[in-house]
Amino acid sequence: MTKKYVTTAIPYMNGEPHIGHAMDYCLADVCARYYRMCGDEVRLQAGADEHGSKIWQKAIDEGVAVQDFVNLKTEGFVKFISKLGVEYTDYVRTTDKEHERRVQEIWRRLSDHIYMDTYEGWYCTGCERFITDKEYEENGGICPDHQKPYEKLAEKNYYLRIADFKEKIKKAIESDEMLVLPEFRKKEILKLLADSPDVSISRPRTQLEWGVPVPGDESQVMYVWMDALANYLTVIGYPDADDYQVWWPAAAQFVGKDILRFHAIIWPAMLLGLGLELPKVLVSHGMVLADGQKMSKSIGNVVNPAEVIDKYGPDAFRYFFLRHVDTFADSDFTWEKFERAYETELANDLGNLVQRLATMCVKNDIKIEGDFKTDLDKDYSDFMDKFEYTKAFDYVWGKVQELNKRIDEEKPWVLAKNGETEKLRECLSGLVKDLLVVNQMLQPFLPATASKITEIFAGKIEPPKMPLFPKQ
Ligand code: MSP
Repeated sequence: MTKKYVTTAIPYMNGEPHIGHAMDYCLADVCARYYRMCGDEVRLQAGADEHGSKIWQKAIDEGVAVQDFVNLKTEGFVKFISKLGVEYTDYVRTTDKEHERRVQEIWRRLSDHIYMDTYEGWYCTGCERFITDKEYEENGGICPDHQKPYEKLAEKNYYLRIADFKEKIKKAIESDEMLVLPEFRKKEILKLLADSPDVSISRPRTQLEWGVPVPGDESQVMYVWMDALANYLTVIGYPDADDYQVWWPAAAQFVGKDILRFHAIIWPAMLLGLGLELPKVLVSHGMVLADGQKMSKSIGNVVNPAEVIDKYGPDAFRYFFLRHVDTFADSDFTWEKFERAYETELANDLGNLVQRLATMCVKNDIKIEGDFKTDLDKDYSDFMDKFEYTKAFDYVWGKVQELNKRIDEEKPWVLAKNGETEKLRECLSGLVKDLLVVNQMLQPFLPATASKITEIFAGKIEPPKMPLFPKQ
């Protein structure tokens, strides 16, 4: 049994979860469930990014104490993750005392690569990022993602000397020692790395008090990204609990394409500075758009995931976001697309298949015996091993549709009518056995549905009392 550590990005606790936040969780959960199915022991981390200027500002604007503000937001996210049917093993909040203590120790261990300098330049609170003069010029002084003017900063900061690690990071990315997926993002990341200056990793407390104090310098707090990235290590006990040694390096880290730059530059620099290995794979997914646009409160097109899950259930949500939202490219959510997928694919292709088969088995007194676990199809495993989840899911769905076609061709109801009992038994048990093989491949994507299907056909077959995907 191999131990595998899978991680998700920790969202800022400055608002409510939206459908875009679901991507990291759904993808990482599929990955974790697939690894478990293959016999690995898996840890899946999730967490909350609770420091930084944008959270601090938001709490002030709302007139709430910052800790109370993040407590409330984190509660909402924790509920959301469970609602998605995501089974994480570890949860970290960056305001946890243990995390803060450990991140300070990480800072101490990096001190050979840290120096103090004056920063004069631009900052985007939305991105929580220092902006180069070149970017400032290119974007005309306004953040294209947040539509807000960059802020001018002139302050003393600590810096992490990225220059110490550039060559090693470049080699690791080029050689796939740290595999960056999708492949087409690699070039863009290598270019950013080549141009990357040393990065500022602190803010003066006079400017921002909501952060982890820099050890040995109470006048500074850590830059929110330094604090946040460290979560992947602190949650598995680094540096003081031995546990981290069996889990690190991570088998796969899931992040959105907008934050790949932090994970492919600052993060590896921190790890190399600590003398740790780099993660095996960084998987960067695309953005979910709503009606073709970036979701934003001002446009009023933010889709509330709870609304979708409460009405259709977690597996319908997972189905759409794992099959119709491409793993790597930007994709669009519309209610129309969602409802069409629900009716024609989940309810008709899968729901009806299960209902029809179970009903015919009961009516004709067919029992299925034995354990139907088989080796996974090679095509499926190849896609899953390469994190090509949309393709793997398409492949499985093709198998579901094949089974429907087979029922129509083999016409078990005609065999029943003609009294061809033996042929009928062969036909139905063949179909059920193949459905159970397909069900095994569905499990990482639709865990609750897959369990129901197993229950329906295991031992005494009973058709579901309610359709798996009821008409809405
Ligand atoms: N706090 C940082 C992450 C720190 S990880 C050490 C952050 N937070 S976030 O709330 O802005 O984003 C959290 C995750 O959600 C990121 O992976 C981000 O890419 C993802 N998404 C946020 N909006 C999204 C969409 N509209 N679509 C898909 N993913 C999106 O960045």
